[in-house]
Amino acid sequence: MARTYSSRKRILVTGGAGFLGSHLCDRLLDAGHEVICLDNMYTGTKRNIDHLHANPRFEFMRHDVCFPVYVEVDEIYNLACPASPVHYQHDPVQTTKTCVHGAINMLGLAKRLRCRILQASTSEVYGDPNVHPQTEDYWGHVNPIGIRSCYDEGKRCAETLFFDYHRQHGLEIKVARIFNTYGPRMHPADGRVVSNFVVQALKGEAITIFGDGQQTRSFCYVEDLVDGLIRLMESPAEITGPVNIGNPNEFSMRELAEAVLAQVDTASQLTTLPLPADDPKQRQPNITIAREKLGWEPKVQLREGLTKTIAYFRELVEQGAA
Ligand SMILES: NC(=O)c1ccc[n+]([C@@H]2O[C@H](COP(=O)([O-])OP(=O)(O)OC[C@H]3O[C@@H](n4cnc5c(N)ncnc54)[C@H](O)[C@@H]3O)[C@@H](O)[C@H]2O)c1
Repeated sequence: MARTYSSRKRILVTGGAGFLGSHLCDRLLDAGHEVICLDNMYTGTKRNIDHLHANPRFEFMRHDVCFPVYVEVDEIYNLACPASPVHYQHDPVQTTKTCVHGAINMLGLAKRLRCRILQASTSEVYGDPNVHPQTEDYWGHVNPIGIRSCYDEGKRCAETLFFDYHRQHGLEIKVARIFNTYGPRMHPADGRVVSNFVVQALKGEAITIFGDGQQTRSFCYVEDLVDGLIRLMESPAEITGPVNIGNPNEFSMRELAEAVLAQVDTASQLTTLPLPADDPKQRQPNITIAREKLGWEPKVQLREGLTKTIAYFRELVEQGAA
């Protein structure tokens, strides 16, 4: 899209070489903006942003959000943080630092620039919820000392910092609570259920279900999710969030495995493993606020999203990259 100099924004996307961040960079560039993609490549890959380097409005910056950064931008999307349990539990101290120091540094930058900042928070702030589906006013049920706490509590503390910068310094903040999202460019070895099932099916390996497979999740396709983040960023200043962004359609793990098997010609069979510690049994967003305040709701159905995701992973498996 062609933009005049005055309507073009310069936008910082931290975690821009990751799964969600790279799709967000695509969309912002398509909308005619300039994008600075900041990433320390902890879980991000060059492959996710290779196609963007030729764009003169794109700039990559290798940097760790745990340290201050000085750039001049009009908006900040703060996505930097490993998102899958395998990755965020690999170095839990670093995960908390990324959540907390990263938020402090990016909020400090936004304060200096007086610019809007959006935080990629998570449904994990609800922990193993007692309320179902989760509404934004539910405070959550989180174990503060468990193996998921580095991420859950790190993200909760980041939300606290966002709201304190808003109250104390008048910063324009946007907090999105992202629920499980899937699609092309997910990390093939991140242990998340969609990538796991798809890669296992494509390789003809056993499809591993934890517990009895009756625990449910809701899955949002990445295009829908990115659309929700941009709508939130562009919403009136009084809409700070937190806003749940996710797909309320719930599937059990067994149903998901069957949906994958229906689209991949494979000899894979289902096999069960013990449930990991603190694994939430049920997670489903209530998206009334997103519907009413942002006019947003997911459009892509699971079957359609899986088709695109399977096509992506098929290419990786054929290249020996998954
Ligand atoms: N994908 C989901 O289902 C989901 C759900 C809830 C919340 N989120 C949030 O959305 C954001 C993006 O998630 P994703 O799925 O794209 O994960 P991802 O791991 O693919 O992307 C995260 C990116 O952040 C980068 N990063 C990590 N630590 C960093 C640091 N200290 N400094 C700079 N860069 C750093 C990584 O290299 C990676 O490119 C995360 O904040 C995550 O918590 C994602």
